[in-house]
Amino acid sequence: MTHTFQSGIIPEASSDALFITFDVKKERIAGAKKALSMSPAIIRELQQQFPDADLYATIGISHSAWRYFDLSAHPAELAPFPRFSHNNIEVGETEGELVFHIRSTRRDASYLLANALYQAFDNSLTIIDEISCFKYLDNRDLTGFVDGTENPEGEARKAVALVGEEDIHFKDGSYLNLMRFEHDLNKWEQLDLKTQEDTYGRTKYANEEYVSKDKSVHAHTKRTSLKDHNGKSLEILRHSMPFASLTCKGLMFASYSKTPSIFNQMLKSMVEGDENGNQDHLMRYTAAKTGNAFFVPSVTWLESMGN
Ligand code: HEM
Repeated sequence: MTHTFQSGIIPEASSDALFITFDVKKERIAGAKKALSMSPAIIRELQQQFPDADLYATIGISHSAWRYFDLSAHPAELAPFPRFSHNNIEVGETEGELVFHIRSTRRDASYLLANALYQAFDNSLTIIDEISCFKYLDNRDLTGFVDGTENPEGEARKAVALVGEEDIHFKDGSYLNLMRFEHDLNKWEQLDLKTQEDTYGRTKYANEEYVSKDKSVHAHTKRTSLKDHNGKSLEILRHSMPFASLTCKGLMFASYSKTPSIFNQMLKSMVEGDENGNQDHLMRYTAAKTGNAFFVPSVTWLESMGN
């Protein structure tokens, strides 16, 4: 079987993104399965209609939905979102069995694709969360720091994000982790520039990484720069984007990886900290409101769900 990865995983950051999570109505599983199998054709049609919009989409399925769909095989590492808590910081799994991650350079194209996909599911889904994100300045988070700089580049993006020969049935799939963070920007903006920069371990305006000896054990980039036992850097491909209304501001964190275990280790390191319990100080200014783990099967897999 030739596999092809879904279009939203690899391309560089977009200027517009929608993250929509759903539950699947148990009495309408067959309809949802059929819609999943039709989704690659729907996505291709809208891409043809908007050839200049760089319109991409991924559809992800959670461990519980995978069980309902009663499919013949199971992605090796598809499991619930992990739970970690320490010093009043808590993260864990929240509701959501299916996700559409749609991105483009045109808000109207993103909307039309989301709508076409939702219609195809013909009342088999319940919407859980619907977040509209935008590119803020030069790819900054609303805390004012550039987000995504240390993402893998070029061919390394595929090596980091896509399942390979190790799980041959699910080759070209990807594990997607999603978290909606809400920021306390009033608290953040009271910090002086140096404290903000120390919190990330990077400078704000020039976006330069601190040299290692200057990085605090609490810095976000210290807590998330992990290595395996051979000293090789552990990497994920992030597609996080800000969202904002006048009253609620935050970041939809999204990462794709060939294994969810790397994300899990990073999140554990942020929340539980190092061996001495030194946590990520970024978590003092933002709170995780959701946590979801999905598998994004290849296009070939999606199409075969109608058989
Ligand atoms: C780096 C923001 C949550 C993993 C960064 C950087 C920023 C940032 C500004 C530095 C520039 C760069 O992208 O390389 C945020 C914000 C978050 C958040 C605002 C939540 C509100 C997370 C989570 C994870 C994560 C939940 C994974 C569990 C990483 C990684 C890096 C990074 C791996 C690169 C570290 C390096 O190699 O230097 N983040 N992040 N981030 N973040 Fe986050």
